Amino acid sequence: MKADVLLGLQWGDEGKGKIVDVITPEYDIIARFQGGPNAGHSLAFENTKIVLNTIPSGIFRENAQNIIGNGVVIDPITLQKEITKLLELGVPVADRLYISRKAHLIMPTHPVLDAAYERAKGDNKIGSTLRGIGPTYADKIGRSGMRVGDLMSANFKDTYKQIKEKHLQTLRLLNYDDPELELKEARWFEAVAFLSAYKTVDSELMINQALKAGKKVLAEGAQGTLLDIDFGSYPFVTSSNTITAGACTGLGLAPQRIGEVYGIFKAYCTRVGSGPFPTELHGEAGEELRKLGHEFGATTGRPRRCGWIDLPALKYAIMLNGATALIMTKSDVLSGFSEIGVCTHYETAEGLTDILPFDLADAKPLIKMLPGWKQDLTGMSSADQLPAELKDYIAFLEAQLEVPIKVVSVGPDRSQTLFR
Ligand code: GDP
Ligand code: IMO
Ligand code: MG
Repeated sequence: MKADVLLGLQWGDEGKGKIVDVITPEYDIIARFQGGPNAGHSLAFENTKIVLNTIPSGIFRENAQNIIGNGVVIDPITLQKEITKLLELGVPVADRLYISRKAHLIMPTHPVLDAAYERAKGDNKIGSTLRGIGPTYADKIGRSGMRVGDLMSANFKDTYKQIKEKHLQTLRLLNYDDPELELKEARWFEAVAFLSAYKTVDSELMINQALKAGKKVLAEGAQGTLLDIDFGSYPFVTSSNTITAGACTGLGLAPQRIGEVYGIFKAYCTRVGSGPFPTELHGEAGEELRKLGHEFGATTGRPRRCGWIDLPALKYAIMLNGATALIMTKSDVLSGFSEIGVCTHYETAEGLTDILPFDLADAKPLIKMLPGWKQDLTGMSSADQLPAELKDYIAFLEAQLEVPIKVVSVGPDRSQTLFR
């Protein structure tokens, strides 16, 4: 068998959590492969609404095994909070959750470093979620990180102290002090003890053995392609590979083991944090999208910047990921707009191009306006019921993107999902 991948084609928050939850019944294993608690994946069904940060979005389904892969960075404190929330909802987490021994740990000093680096950047700050993601991946690549499996080693506390001391030196250089660090450290060790009751595994072996035995695996991306460390709007990106290749390194999957790649995007576009966003709407339309789409960060509550869909960016993302099918979410949010904007090209000194420019900060998008629709989509139960203008919008996107849109999401709930 091959593993399927579902990942974001924009700047994150495309609705990955919702769709993974919807399609989990088709899978035996759901695995996160990168990112960490910077992610916020919202699920909604039967009066339950929840945001997951580290735990895969298959956790609510009875027969799925959920893996936090080696490519993920884990904050024990956040993970404990997530588990506690799920236990309160009656989810038997210990039966369904598997944590990679090779996943790196976010230490209490990592988020403090994140905050110190952001302060030092001043106006050029990334707009990080301040969850310690960048500093943790930096330690991983710098070969001085700590992994879940290292918690079992006899000299774990010594290693911890050494890394912490190195972090404190940096913080002193940056003249940054967190008076709550000791408290956070105590909480961290409590959380580590709490997590010792959960299964740790060599997830690369577990996944490859499962595929060999004919089981179905879905890799769940976090963030989005335009936040990828190599191909996103650098330096305003996250610190991991968010693209399909990240599923290979983040789970131990050989490239030929990748099957379907589901690329998910919003019918418009959002971004949270700093960095260029060429199709951003600064006026009333942007405000309207934010209001109607409830565009506030699932993790940090920050208002998301809103704008029109960007086809050169989507084409680039589809190419990088090898997307085989597309999923469009939040179409319902566009109901009532008399016209819908689509960026089809960028204007450059050499003329029009549908290739995403290197420097997005000065990029000039060309926006084509398409007719909107008035109908409320949220109660629709079949793609046939969609208004003609939306069907035309979908046909236009499919022609441009050259990949079929197989799912149209018309609301946050599991049930508000139309398959084509
Ligand atoms: P993720 O990070 O990709 O999982 O996405 P988030 O959960 O951060 O953000 C998506 C938001 O949109 C959440 O509040 C979802 O409940 C909501 N959502 C998902 N799909 C739809 C949809 O089709 N329509 C509407 N109106 N909301 C949706
Ligand atoms: P999900 O999985 C949207 C953004 C931050 C910031 C940049 C770097 O819910 O789609 P980091 O905390 O990684 O140092 O932040 O990336 N960012 C996200 N934006 N959705 C996310 O995750 C994000 N994770 C990080 O806002 O601009
Ligand atoms: Mg999110």
